[in-house]
Amino acid sequence: MIGVKKIAHATYETPDLDKQIEYYTDILGLTLVAKEKDIAYLASTLDHHSVVLRRGDHSRCVRLGFQLGPDDDLNAFEKQTAAHGIKTARKKDPEPSIADMVAFDDPKGTAMEVFKRGETSPQKFPLKGIVPHKLGHVAFFVKDVQGTTKFYCDVLGFRVSDWMGDFFSFLRCGTDHHTINLMRDPEDRHFHTAFELRDWGHMLTACDHLSLHGYKLLWGPGRHGIGHNLFCYHRGPNGLITELFAQLDQMNEALGYFEPRPWHRDRPQKPKVWAKDPTASNYWGIMPTDEMHK
Ligand SMILES: [Fe+2]
Repeated sequence: MIGVKKIAHATYETPDLDKQIEYYTDILGLTLVAKEKDIAYLASTLDHHSVVLRRGDHSRCVRLGFQLGPDDDLNAFEKQTAAHGIKTARKKDPEPSIADMVAFDDPKGTAMEVFKRGETSPQKFPLKGIVPHKLGHVAFFVKDVQGTTKFYCDVLGFRVSDWMGDFFSFLRCGTDHHTINLMRDPEDRHFHTAFELRDWGHMLTACDHLSLHGYKLLWGPGRHGIGHNLFCYHRGPNGLITELFAQLDQMNEALGYFEPRPWHRDRPQKPKVWAKDPTASNYWGIMPTDEMHK
């Protein structure tokens, strides 16, 4: 099957567009590449945009963009998607830098935007803000975690990296341990959006930068069991949670295990079902605050 190769962008509706643009540029260190009246495009390194902000009534993640590989056929991907009984729409020049797109909804109503990247849009290294490597993953609370996990695997080509019990799945579309995670909940809603940092030192300066600008951590720094990444979480001005992470597990597909790291408990570390145990959340012991699930 033709599977997506990376997450390209996430689109959010937000009531205060200017405040959110300020957060993404001055705090996170993304580059504002284009702005219209009710829409802003923010970039990180190579893609024209990694984050799209649209003015809306309330804060929510409404779309996810996924990139196919240079040799993948978009027509064949559309046929493959339609064969699952999914209604697709074809969009020509829907967004800057995207010439042709296949769009459809996932089971919780988030728009999937699948396309091939033509030209890249390299940006200079920004001189202010945290400046992450990239948009890493987007996590959602979902009513139907089994069905939605199956959708991402069967329709978009994701693979399951790990489960926590039967209620929290971690899915990859490349070497990164997870690009999408789905946690069972009575409501379908955004959980967090994560950006990759260089290392522990980068996380230190990021936490100080957040603190100096009035952003308090909700949870972390710590090291997750599942995915083994260093993490810290805070809430942006629109109320949605941002995670900053480093040292995420990298899958070696040919060998079927994650690249060995000294903090792994399994050797080799293979995809598995983790028990609902505090170590699955944080090897360092401190559990999430209630704030994390609001
Ligand atoms: Fe995360």
